[in-house]
Order: sequence, then structure tokens, then C-alpha cells
Amino acid sequence: MDPVDAESFLRTYHAETPSAGPVEPRLRQVLAQIGQYGTYTHTAEELAFGARVAWRNSGRCIGRLYWRSLRVRDHRSVDTAEGVAVECVNHLREATASGRIRPTITVFAQDRPGRPGPRVWNEQLIRYAGHLGPEGAVVAGDARNAAFTATARRLGWTGGSGSEFDVLPLVVEAGGKPPLLATVPGDAILEVPLEHPAHPWFADLGLRWHAVPAISNMCLEIGGVCYPCAPFNGWYMGTEIGARNLADEDRYNLLPVVADRLGLDTSSDRTLWKDQALVELNVAVLHSFGRAGVTITDHHTEARRFISHLEREERSGRICPADWSWIVPPLSGSLTPVFHRYYDDVQLSPAFVHHPRTSEYEG
Ligand code: ARG
Repeated sequence: MDPVDAESFLRTYHAETPSAGPVEPRLRQVLAQIGQYGTYTHTAEELAFGARVAWRNSGRCIGRLYWRSLRVRDHRSVDTAEGVAVECVNHLREATASGRIRPTITVFAQDRPGRPGPRVWNEQLIRYAGHLGPEGAVVAGDARNAAFTATARRLGWTGGSGSEFDVLPLVVEAGGKPPLLATVPGDAILEVPLEHPAHPWFADLGLRWHAVPAISNMCLEIGGVCYPCAPFNGWYMGTEIGARNLADEDRYNLLPVVADRLGLDTSSDRTLWKDQALVELNVAVLHSFGRAGVTITDHHTEARRFISHLEREERSGRICPADWSWIVPPLSGSLTPVFHRYYDDVQLSPAFVHHPRTSEYEG
């Protein structure tokens, strides 16, 4: 714990939050805590501000216009695997809100000297298993999660029917104990079956996706304090599902299937069959989520919102860090305003960061 990080965060918080009063008394208190315990404890207000600013600082996220509206669930007193699993499920229920998705973060116990906080091993709270066949190739599901699925199996997971869309169990590690496997109850998982507005056969493909993307393997860093378990979610932008999860060759690789059903000429790349199939897949995603009453946004709208956000940040005298390669949507990039410019991509703090894992239980 570097006291300089604590000081710089507290100064930012007080500068942006006049109602918090002068920084000096709080600074003295925090420096004393660090001197005595090697760390310090945020107030609830500091935590909420820090979490929102970590979102604001996420250079890869196009959806930051609403950063102030992030709901912060303060569960810092929870440091057991069981407690984390229960509150992750409650997070999903509250964030899903029957489809009116609410950007939400749940913050669990922080790292302290000699006492690391809990961790969720899953990349997201909801992900689909990637099932391996006898040959070691992925025969069903999301190939991205094949290694994690194997880890869950090694830890004793016997669930999943071997289907394309089996939701993985949570794997939670806390207190230096072996990780806990916890099934996410079905009523905490909202999913949308996919259909196409013009092609009745599309529904027969049996495709679906979950409503809430909830990243669970990034640390929330605020003023030198690391919260290793702080799952957060927004809502989906259609292309994440339609142009990546379902389309990437190393994910669900569905373009050949969709192109075939559309009757496209797939004999050469130059017929642009992939491009045509990709558009129809994305039409299906946006249409299906809309019909199901589940919040989703399209890349044109979200790109425009991002530019408003960026301009607003600049008017506030702040840099808005952005990584072009993540901000530009994977479909029709040049049709959106975010394509036609460059960005500063600096690492600001607070931040969400990937920390290398150091579990003795890791396979
Ligand atoms: N791209 C990831 C996925 O498809 C989700 C990342 C976060 N996305 C979001 N809209 N908050 O699952």
C-alpha cells in the first residue's frame, strides 16, 4: 500500500465532491490507518465514487455515458466463499430486474496484509460451458470457456447436460480454503431465445444468449486498495453477442450455418456471404432482446452516446481514456462516429484491472 495512491484518490474524491468537505482531516486519518494496519478502509461514499470512476476510466468500454448511475452494492463485510456465492446470485437478480437491466457492482472484502480478499474464478457470473469430446476438441458450447469448464470438472462439477448453452457454476475461493462450486439457480439467469423478424427458420437454430454480462474476474483498485472480488455489469450492445460470441470462429462459429439457411453463395469470400450472414445474425439479436423486453443497445446508438460522453468529459476538464481497437464496434465500424478519430489511452486510477491469480488450487 503506497500512501501516495491513497492521497491522490482522496484528493480527487474531495475535489469532485464538494459536499464531502475539506480533504485534510480525512487524509490524516487515512495515513494513520495505513501506518498502523498497512491499509485503510474507504467510507461507503468513497467506495461508490471509486467504483463509478473506475468505470469512467475504462478505456475499453463504449458504454460509459451513464457512469454516474452505477448501483454500488457494498458487501465488504462478506469474505467467505458461501457468502460471496449468495451475494453474486442476489447481484444477478437485482441487476436483471426482469429485463430492465441495471448497471450494478457488488464489492466484497478488500485485500489486507496477510489476508487476501475472496475471488471468483469465473470470467463472468454467467458463461456457457465448452464441452470437450474424447478427442479433446470442443464438441458443444462456448469454446472460449473450455479450459474453465475443465477446471470446474476437476473441482467436481457434474452439472450441465452437454448442450450448447449450459451455464457454468460459480467457482469461489476465499480464506485460503479450496474453492467452492456453487450452481447459479435458474431463476437468477434471464436468457433470450433468438429469432429473426423475417426468417421463421431462425428460431429453429435453438440459439439463445443470457441477458446480463457480469464481469467477475477483474480487481477494482481504488486509492491503493485492491478489491479482488467486485463483479460488475452493464447491459449488452448487440454486436458483442451477434458479431463476436456467436460469430467468432473460436466461439460459436455460426456464420456458415446462418449463410447456408439464408441460401447464400458461400463458394468464395468475395460473395461477402459472411458479411451478409453477420448482419442478419445481429438483426436477430437486437430483435429478440427487444421483443423479450430485455435492455440492449445497438452500436450506432451506443457510439453516438460515447461521443457525447467524451465531449462532456472534455468540458469537465478530464481526459477520457479510450482504446480505439475496443471502442470501434466489430460490425460496420466506419458507419459509427467513434471510428473516425483517435483517442488518448492513458491508464487512470481508480480502475478495473486484471491481476495474475496466485492460487495454490489453480490447475
Ligand atoms: N463482451 C462480453 C460478452 O460478450 C461482455 C463485456 C461487457 N459488456 C457490457 N456490455 N457491459 O459477454
